[in-house]
Amino acid sequence: MSESDPENSLIEKAASLIREAGKATALTGAGISAESGIPTFRGKDGLWQKYDPEELATESAFRQNPERVWEWYWFRIDLVRKAKPNPGHLALAEMERLHPDFMVMTQNVDGLHFRAGSRNVLEFHGNIMRARCTSCGRKFDVDEIKREKLPRCPECGDLLRPDVVWFGESLDPDVLEKADKRARETDLLLVVGTSLLVYPAASIPLLAKEREARIIEVNLEETYISAEADISFRNKAGEVLPLIAERLRRYYENRS
Ligand code: OAD
Repeated sequence: MSESDPENSLIEKAASLIREAGKATALTGAGISAESGIPTFRGKDGLWQKYDPEELATESAFRQNPERVWEWYWFRIDLVRKAKPNPGHLALAEMERLHPDFMVMTQNVDGLHFRAGSRNVLEFHGNIMRARCTSCGRKFDVDEIKREKLPRCPECGDLLRPDVVWFGESLDPDVLEKADKRARETDLLLVVGTSLLVYPAASIPLLAKEREARIIEVNLEETYISAEADISFRNKAGEVLPLIAERLRRYYENRS
């Protein structure tokens, strides 16, 4: 992008909106991890084109065929292990370091925000790198358990399941409460790489809008919030977010 590129003024505006916000919040989805080689769910190369969520991402699918579900999860765990945080994740981590009150809410289960250095992260759908016992409820890092077709709880010996939220399941009430509160308090919402089709995450922009939060969207495609956003970037997260973070950094450096 050159200095005269009109996008530059949008980058500048986005950085101003973030720095003027007392509380700034990013809501992320699979799109932010696409540039790390982790497939999204929807769209032409999305996981749900190849796989049926009813067979792989519901509690009843797990009860009927836990081996099939674990096989799919081991495949995705391997993808996540190989993946690295990309410039989009790193830019959000930098925004958190720069801004006095910046938080990430994510629908992603890949843990890449943490690996990029973000600390104030709320994971809506759990984390694929953790397993949970179906009996005693204890949680384990997947590196602590045996890689088996049907992994067993190291404590009680019962069947483990991925520690993620499946379709039809409720989110952790604590996570829901925190997300709801933050959405109602935030002055700015940066919506990145999510189709906004899955609730309750999809309702976060509406809650934020109720108190007139400013909205910035970064997505390759339009979503229901695009028309209402203050700025809507039709670009890759890994391209736009580092430019915004750089503007923010310059601002904070010049101030100190
Ligand atoms: P989706 O796969 O529904 O949407 C991904 C979005 O990212 C799309 O809107 C793309 O246009 C956009 N996108 C793709 N690459 C991008 C890039 N490089 N930069 C910016 N945007 C990009 O993923 P989610 O909205 O996260 O839930 O899906 C929500 C939930 O549905 C997931 O958490 C998962 C899924 O079923 C469960 O498994 C419970």
